[in-house]
Amino acid sequence: MKTFYVETYGCQMNVVDSEIVASILIRNGLIQTYNPQDADIILLNTCSIRENAEMRIKSRIKQLGSFKKTNPNLRLGIIGCMAENLKEKLFVELPQLDLLAGPDVYRLLPEILKQINDENKIINTTLSKEETYADVLPFRYDSNGISAYVSIMRGCDNFCSYCVVPYTRGRERSRDASSIINEVLSLSENGFKEITLLGQNVNSYHYRDIDFPALISLLAKNFPNLLFRFTTSHPKDLSIELIEAMASFPNIAKSIHLPVQSGSNEVLKRMNRKYTRDDYLEKVYLLRRLIPDITISTDIICGFCGETEEDHLQTIDLMKEVNYFFAFMFKYNERPNTLAAKKYADDVTDDIKSRRLKEIIDLQQKISYMLNKQDIGKIFKVLVEGISKKNEKEIFGRNSQNKVIVFAGDLTQKGQFVDVEVTNCTSATLIGRQNFDK
Ligand code: 5AD
Ligand code: SF4
Repeated sequence: MKTFYVETYGCQMNVVDSEIVASILIRNGLIQTYNPQDADIILLNTCSIRENAEMRIKSRIKQLGSFKKTNPNLRLGIIGCMAENLKEKLFVELPQLDLLAGPDVYRLLPEILKQINDENKIINTTLSKEETYADVLPFRYDSNGISAYVSIMRGCDNFCSYCVVPYTRGRERSRDASSIINEVLSLSENGFKEITLLGQNVNSYHYRDIDFPALISLLAKNFPNLLFRFTTSHPKDLSIELIEAMASFPNIAKSIHLPVQSGSNEVLKRMNRKYTRDDYLEKVYLLRRLIPDITISTDIICGFCGETEEDHLQTIDLMKEVNYFFAFMFKYNERPNTLAAKKYADDVTDDIKSRRLKEIIDLQQKISYMLNKQDIGKIFKVLVEGISKKNEKEIFGRNSQNKVIVFAGDLTQKGQFVDVEVTNCTSATLIGRQNFDK
């Protein structure tokens, strides 16, 4: 019996994909190990979004390749976005590798693994228009867990000019709604409390006559004891129906990740985002009007091709206007073969990118702290996730607004929704207490 080990890089989609891969391999008689040194097969499920993600993975492969000295039968594979993005080039650069498999061929992995031998490396990066792994129940790494990701769609058709994802994950396709409901049912029966519906752009989910607002409403109604979150939303596809669903179901979290990328219309246009700053802000105002306690998070790229100081100030200004509670902030990194790489010069120097990024990060920290301070004195329902990393007498969880709260307690409360009063905060965390005068 062969043993396999999977290591995951990148986004939440990859977390689920690794669980799908594990499920497929286990179903075919392989045994999972959590120690790469014990494995006959090591798979890295990879990310290509920025160059430094790829660099990290390459050096990890070099490190893992040294295990072949003590275990000559070890097979080493890169699966996922990086296999799709770089293809055979990886075999040249990393001779230790035996396998490259793109994100749509995981069902074939058991067969492919049998065909590999010392003379035969295998690459399969075929993309599919249909594959959603709808019938594969992911192997949950946290089987007594509380939170689970459920993939509802794959791929992306948006072709934002900086982004490699439409090339690495292929065309957008939505998963059969009944298979999603069955998976949520099974998670609910297994004690899970919180489900995050995942897709590159969940707002364009469409299966027969079920769109995303219909899907999440159906789930929220049928599973009143589960809390639903979702990510990621493309602002252009965020509909009033979804905002209304969020407003009307208490078990749909009051938080949305709405990547803006830039506050400048010129930059947004070159990024091929298909909305203007005003379109975006209108959606933000609508969200805040219908869901006053909502929190909004975002992704921001600074130093995109042709970004001027004025464009950058527009981003800064938009951040102040929206008051994001959290943001992922990046320097633009040109990815080969994307529309931007073909069409525009990567002409903002690294020094300027770094300075602008620092300004963005500093501002975000201030905004996060200011918003967290406004929560002091408020009482939130918090789903307890586990022990705090900093202090073992404290536990932590997140409220509906997706803010982390740390407070005194013990593990007997793991998986419960408890009331917590916020007493203090940092820019990253709320600090609270459970026993207060109600
Ligand atoms: N450079 C920098 N950031 C990028 N992202 C995607 N592509 C790039 C790139 N080439 C960011 C976007 C996206 C997030 C997942 O990663 O902000 O929303
Ligand atoms: Fe990339 Fe844009 Fe698709 Fe997001 S929506 S995965 S940024 S192309």
